[in-house]
Order: sequence, then C-alpha cells, then structure tokens
Amino acid sequence: TLDGLNALLSQLGADPIPKISGLAAHPLSRPIDIYRVYLADIVARLIGCEAPLVYESLQSPTSTANGDLVLPVPRLRLKDGKKPADQCSNLEAAFPESHPLFRKPKATGIHLPLYFSPLSLSRLVLPYIFQRQQAYGSNLDTGLRNDPTAPATTDRKKVIIEFSSPNIAKEFHAGHLRSTIIGAFVSNLYQSMDWDVVKINYLGDWGKQFGLLAVGWQRFGSEDELARQPLKHLLDVYARINAAFKPEQEASKRARDEGRDTAEIESQGLFAERNAFFRRMEDGDAEALALWSRFRDISIDRYVATYARLNIGFDEYSGESQVKTETIKRVEALLQENGVYTEHNGSWAIDFEKHGSKGLGLAVVRGRTGTTTYLLRDVAAVLDREAKYAFDKMIYVVSTEQDLYFRRVFRTLELIGRADLASRLQHVNFGKVVSLSSRLGTVQLLSDILDQSRDALHEVMRRNTVKYAQVADPDAVAEAVGISAVMVQDMSGKRINNYPFDISRMTSFEGDTGPYLQYCHARLNSILRKAGLTRDDLVDHLSQHPDGLDADVLSKQHCVDLLRLMAQYPDVTATALRNLEPSTVLTYLFRLTHQLSSCYDVLQVVGAEGGRDVMLARAALYEGARQVLENGMRLLGLSPVESK
Ligand code: ARG
Repeated sequence: TLDGLNALLSQLGADPIPKISGLAAHPLSRPIDIYRVYLADIVARLIGCEAPLVYESLQSPTSTANGDLVLPVPRLRLKDGKKPADQCSNLEAAFPESHPLFRKPKATGIHLPLYFSPLSLSRLVLPYIFQRQQAYGSNLDTGLRNDPTAPATTDRKKVIIEFSSPNIAKEFHAGHLRSTIIGAFVSNLYQSMDWDVVKINYLGDWGKQFGLLAVGWQRFGSEDELARQPLKHLLDVYARINAAFKPEQEASKRARDEGRDTAEIESQGLFAERNAFFRRMEDGDAEALALWSRFRDISIDRYVATYARLNIGFDEYSGESQVKTETIKRVEALLQENGVYTEHNGSWAIDFEKHGSKGLGLAVVRGRTGTTTYLLRDVAAVLDREAKYAFDKMIYVVSTEQDLYFRRVFRTLELIGRADLASRLQHVNFGKVVSLSSRLGTVQLLSDILDQSRDALHEVMRRNTVKYAQVADPDAVAEAVGISAVMVQDMSGKRINNYPFDISRMTSFEGDTGPYLQYCHARLNSILRKAGLTRDDLVDHLSQHPDGLDADVLSKQHCVDLLRLMAQYPDVTATALRNLEPSTVLTYLFRLTHQLSSCYDVLQVVGAEGGRDVMLARAALYEGARQVLENGMRLLGLSPVESK
C-alpha cells in the first residue's frame, strides 16, 4: 500500500512520496517509478518547470554503467538562453548534496545521469520484492492499478490472443512452434498486466485439403492405426493421398502456366473426388461432417495433451470450420454494398490495388467452385469474435510469411466500413526456423519436437555420471529442462530474426541457454537449503533488521549492481508489453544471472564473515533475486525446476 511504502521511505529518512497529478506512474508495482516521482519533484522545484515534463523526459540507460536513470536536459526545453551543457551543470550544482534516494549526480555533457543510493536499494527494493513476490513485475494485486491518486477502476480490458493454430492432418511445422511459444508469452504478459485474456487456437480444420484427407481415408485409413497413433496416422493418410494427387496438381499447374483452361483437368480423378467431398461438407452433409468431426475431435484431444507439457491451455479451440455461414454471407453482402466485390474469372475477388492499397494485389474471396476461402473465413471470424467477446484488442501470432495476408484481412474490414474494428487488430509476426526438420530428422508433430529435445537433454545429463546419480527424478528434470531449451532458443533473438534449430547448442548448460537459466534458478534455491533457512526466516529477519545488508551495499559494488538490476524488472515487463518481444525479458534474465554468478564469491552465505545476521541478509538478497528470476521464467512460459 501507499502507507506501507511511505513507512519504508521514512525509515530511509525520505519525505512521503510526492503527490503529483497527471503522471502515469506505478510506484506500487514498479520501484523505479518511486525514484522517478521524487526526481520529477526535485528537478521541477530546482528549475521551476512542470514535474510531469521532467517525469516524461527521464530515460533508462541501456547499461547500468551509465546510471539508473538519465535526464537529457534539452528535453526540458528551458528558455533561459543558456547552452544545454551549462543548464546541465547548473542542475548538477543545485542538486541536493545528500538525498536518501539519490547519489549526487555528475553531469556528462547535456545528460544528467542519476544513480540510486545504495542504501535505498537494499532497504526499499528488497522488502518491495518480498512483499510483491510472484506479483513483482506484474500489475496484479496493486490495489490501485495505475496512478494512486486516480480512482480505482474495475473494468478490465479484454484481449483475444490467437496462436499456434496448426492444420489438422498436416505437419506441425516450425511456424506453429514459434507461434505457440511466442503466443503463450504474449498471453502470460497480458494476463500479468491485468487484462482479461482469451486464448484461441484457430485450427486449420476446413478447406479442400479436408476433402482430400477424406478421399485418402477411404483408401488408406485404418481404425486400428487411428486408435493407436491418431495424429501420426492422419498425417500418413494425408501424405499418401497427397502423393497420389501430385501428378494431377502438376498437370493443372502446367495448364494454367500455359494459359489453358484447367476446368477439364479439375473435373476428373482425385480433383473431382476432393472437391465433391468438400462440397458435401460445405453443404452440411451429415455423413461427411461426421467423419470430419471425428478427425477434428481426435486431433484436439492429442493437442490438449501436448500443449499441457508447455503449460498452455486454450480457452477455445475454434477453427476455420467454426466461422458462421450467416456471417460469411454478411461479409459478402457488405463487400457488394461497398462496391469492392468483383467477379474475376468465375470467382469473386477484391482488387485491393483499385481501392487505394498499393502492394496488396488482388485476392480471391470466393472460389470458382463456389467454396469459401481462407481470407473470407478469417474476415468473418473477426465479426463472430466481436459479437461473442466484445474484445478491446485482438492479436494474431503468425509468421511473417502471412504479413501480406493479414494486411489484406485488416484492409478488407476497412473496406466493409469497419475501420474501427480493424484498428483493434494486431499481427504479431516472427521469422523462420532454418531447417528444423533436416536437423531433427523426422519431426512432424509438436510432441516429436518436445520428445527429441527432452531426450537430447537427458543425454547431456547422463554424461555427468556423478551428478546424474544425485538427481531424484531425472525424467521429470529432462522434460522440464529440455522444453526450456527449445523455448529459450526460440526467444533469444528479436521475433523477426530467423534462427537455426541447433539441438546441441540449445541443450548445453553453458552459454545463454534454457538449461543455463534452469541451473541458475536451481542454484539459488539450494542456497537457502544449504544454509538451513526458510523463506519465513528471511521475512522475519528483513522486518527486524532492515539494515542487515547495509555493510554489503556500502562496500561491495557487486551487491549494489545486483539490486539495481532487480529494481529494473517491472520496467522490463512494461517495455515487453509495448514491443511484445520475449527477448526483452530473456535478455534481462541473462544479465541478472551473469551478475549473480559474479556475486557468489564476493557475497557468500554459508560461512559469511560477520555471523548469522550477515548470512540472513545475504540469503534474503539471493532469495529476492531468485524470485525475480522465477517471475521472469514463468512469464516466458518456462517451469523453473527446484533443484539442480
Ligand atoms: N492454420 C494457419 C497455418 O498453418 C495459421 C492460422 C493463422 N491464423 C489466422 N487467423 N489465419 O498457416
């Protein structure tokens, strides 16, 4: 609470937190905002400008070596006729000689870098983390959610996050893997920021390929195989019929390339069988739909089990098949009314170029044989979801290969007069995984990818025979750490970057990998265990000896730097909410773990000089760091393992 915070501040000798209205400050969930508010107040008084302007001008340096916050003085737009560098050194001179929260700053050119006072870090930030625990870094349980001076609001915003979305009876490829990992992160992030999150899996469960699968099932299907390995069998059936279909498809493509009519070719053989079956599905034929719905249900059943290994649960398994026919008709009527629907070689299309969208080309909306398209179903799905959920925002986590496609979806909504709706949609894209299959051999399903990483990790563990013998449940550890390996590799770079799937690198315990993060977390866990301490011991100690870490923060830069990093975490998650980049959080966690590993020698717990009080104070420091690491890992969707 604000009172609790002010009590901590008064122990430090600081005045209560200044009340400044109109600031987007979250002092109860982001400790650095406390410092920002004080700074805004101090600087505004010193030079007689508006505190909110100072607040907004403050920046976070990319490295803690350049300060905890920095004030670029030109941003204050002072009208005293002096040069910015002089304004800056005047500000330095006027800054209080000693302040409970800040060290005396030293100007560097036009920038005033500010450093938090070491004592404020240990006495403010550490209890802060202990108090917030799992909520540290989130907007949950803050009581007042935003500006503490503003009235509390209860209406949470709703976001739909659509991710993973594999195609039934087809390979779960790298694009689906990345969508799953990034989508889960984006969902966790919004949840932690107190949004009402609806997770949708939009299955590829409709379209002509389903007609082809059904034709394949009539030839190659086996009930026994389907019961034994449903996903594998459907893949197999589809692969076989697809192989048989290839020659026909190629003949049709050749005809098209040569400018001949393809209608004749497509009215025979598997083409005709496929189209006829899909036609039956679209016409609502009970028998056709029964087969389709069996395949769909069986597949979802298996997906649910595999996503559970990643701690992912969807609120809705929707899919292309679930889009309402009436809505599809409504979209087409709107296209007509708005004069953007044109007939094109027997199909219905939108010529985006003609309607002010250069580069979007022409897209078929309803096919020549009268069937709906991916695009038409997607546009209608937006309207269905709006009616069902009244969302404030909807995010599609899909690869960059569909960049153009999503621009068409959004543009189509604008063209039917729903610019308001289009503006609430966002496509969160990502690059490719280079040669996933060739490196892993025969992966086709998500469970294959997870199995192979788990097994590779298990192999790495076995190499250290001594340690291996001490692991209580090696299978469980291999599973959790193996999955972290895949996920961390995926989230290490910016989303847009491509990366190679490198199983030996990602399962290594060295370098910035998932196993390394897991190892760091387990090591922090073992500190308390080895010292024979519980969390409650630490909480007690911290409240009775708020000065326990004073000697360390005053003499050891390692300790100060660790706390400075720990204070940043809520700022990191706030940045991540803006850019939706898992790497923002992951890069931070690696900085934190690197800082930790340089602390262990300097700040020992067991056998610390200075006796039990020092031991407890340092154990609290490490426990605080562990909490931050755990929160970051969970946000990324990783399950921290308890012991190494
Ligand atoms: N099933 C599609 C694919 O595998 C991805 C679906 C993306 N979402 C959407 N609303 N179109 O390529």
